[in-house]
Amino acid sequence: MLNTDYFNIPKIIIALDFNNKKAAMKLVDLLDPSLFYLKIGKEMFTILGKKFINELHQLGFNIFLDLKFHDIPNTVFNATKAAADLGIWMLSVHAAGGKKMLTYAKKALKSFKKRPLLIAVTALTSLKQEDLKNIGIQISLQDYILILSKLSYDCGLDGVVCPGKEAEKIKLLCGDKYKIITPGIRCFNDSNFDQNQTITPKQAKKFLIDYIVIGRSITSSINPIKKLNFIIQSMQ
Ligand code: C5P
Repeated sequence: MLNTDYFNIPKIIIALDFNNKKAAMKLVDLLDPSLFYLKIGKEMFTILGKKFINELHQLGFNIFLDLKFHDIPNTVFNATKAAADLGIWMLSVHAAGGKKMLTYAKKALKSFKKRPLLIAVTALTSLKQEDLKNIGIQISLQDYILILSKLSYDCGLDGVVCPGKEAEKIKLLCGDKYKIITPGIRCFNDSNFDQNQTITPKQAKKFLIDYIVIGRSITSSINPIKKLNFIIQSMQ
């Protein structure tokens, strides 16, 4: 397996989106925990809970718990603390929860010696301009993403989840160290499924994205390792 560290390319987070443990482990067993991060989202966490996170930790994986908290500040404070107690590497909240919610999420991590990275989702990669209009937001999708990125930065978050094409502008606005995590990665004739803001792994490198999230491109592949090697090669 080719090493992303060696080639200085975006690091790869595999979205473990399965509806049962057996299918998830079939993929996990193929992966080297020193090369790939795992993302546990709403589906797997709802089915398997914290026991599964512990098992993946024991195998040596760093876990991005992508539950995208979006609630009143007190609830997000407590949920963030509970998530950090699991010893995860990264967790997500929705930037649209607002300044107070984001600040509370950050505050919740204060007491942790080794805290997870706190990342805000700006706009889902499944959204189009028309979707914003439908919920009464009149500004452009690009401006919406930049506003939420800057707000999250000002609230002390470590980075944002955003469509790849906005990454360069966010880095200019918030600095190089601000982490950019990008889902919606598609390559080699992958279907877009429900994603509307997609980029290729090669573009991710060009846009200086720190982490790419890859789900169905790998989880639905008949040879995930071969596909991952192609993806890594395409970014060199
Ligand atoms: O299968 P696919 O590669 O489209 O999966 C993308 C993953 O990234 C999913 O687990 C989805 O929940 C997550 N995600 C996203 N857009 C965001 C944040 C997270 O697609 N803005």
